[in-house]
Amino acid sequence: MHIDPVSPVIGAEVSGIDLAAPLSPESFQAIHDALMTHLVLFFRDQELSFEQHKALGRQFGDLHIHPAAPKDSEHPEILVVHGDATVTFVAGETWHSDVSCDTTPPLGSILRVEQVPTSGGDTLFASMYAAYEALSDHMQRLVSELTAMHDGRQYYVGRYGGGNLRDGAYPAAEHPAVRTHPVTGRPALYVNEGFTIGFKELKPAESQALLGFLVRHCAQPEFQCRFRWRRNSVAFWDNRCTQHHAIWDYYPQTRHGYRVTIKGDRPFFDPSREPSPAG
Ligand code: SIN
Repeated sequence: MHIDPVSPVIGAEVSGIDLAAPLSPESFQAIHDALMTHLVLFFRDQELSFEQHKALGRQFGDLHIHPAAPKDSEHPEILVVHGDATVTFVAGETWHSDVSCDTTPPLGSILRVEQVPTSGGDTLFASMYAAYEALSDHMQRLVSELTAMHDGRQYYVGRYGGGNLRDGAYPAAEHPAVRTHPVTGRPALYVNEGFTIGFKELKPAESQALLGFLVRHCAQPEFQCRFRWRRNSVAFWDNRCTQHHAIWDYYPQTRHGYRVTIKGDRPFFDPSREPSPAG
């Protein structure tokens, strides 16, 4: 297996591995460690059936079912990601960490894109370790003491009808605005444009001003990499320390893919935890 970083901050392209076959313990460890180091991994030419895709995800944890997954779906663990000339939205077209409005948001997501437009349809990924580290000490201290409120309504309303939601309601949750990564121990900013609506401890005007600042801060190009998809490319990202933004610049062309999402733990912040870069 060869691991080739695409930026010093985030992202690596991984070659020499067939994700359709069960991973050996050595390959599993190498992918796991590379994900902890590079936060998002990219693979090319991966032909995966739904069963192989789900089996790949299950090697990293139990699978998450999206709150708006169709109730009659044969594969509820597979989220269809689709854009074409007829749709009014595509999944992930704003900066977000997947389903951060869940009480236990997903650990990671594995997306395979099967059909790509002739150009465009790239995905941006950003390191929330880098975003946290770039704040001044004073701002780090302030944000570390805050509870961020996340609400699925602002993102899902008008996209996924409320009646289609599995639990009949938009998920909402409160999480620390800075979370400690459970494996690496590193602090990461956990506030995103898609789901975060404000901070519990602040007055509304303070909350909106800080949220606006943090959303702009997180979107700086220095924290990012950009992935150009080809047919059967796969991206595997860690939702605990990244955000991503799917660019919908290819209308009216079609882009089509499938995402498997891995369940995570309840976010926490532990300022006494010593980071261990390898995890
Ligand atoms: C998503 O899972 O948020 C969609 C990402 C993409 O389509 O690139």
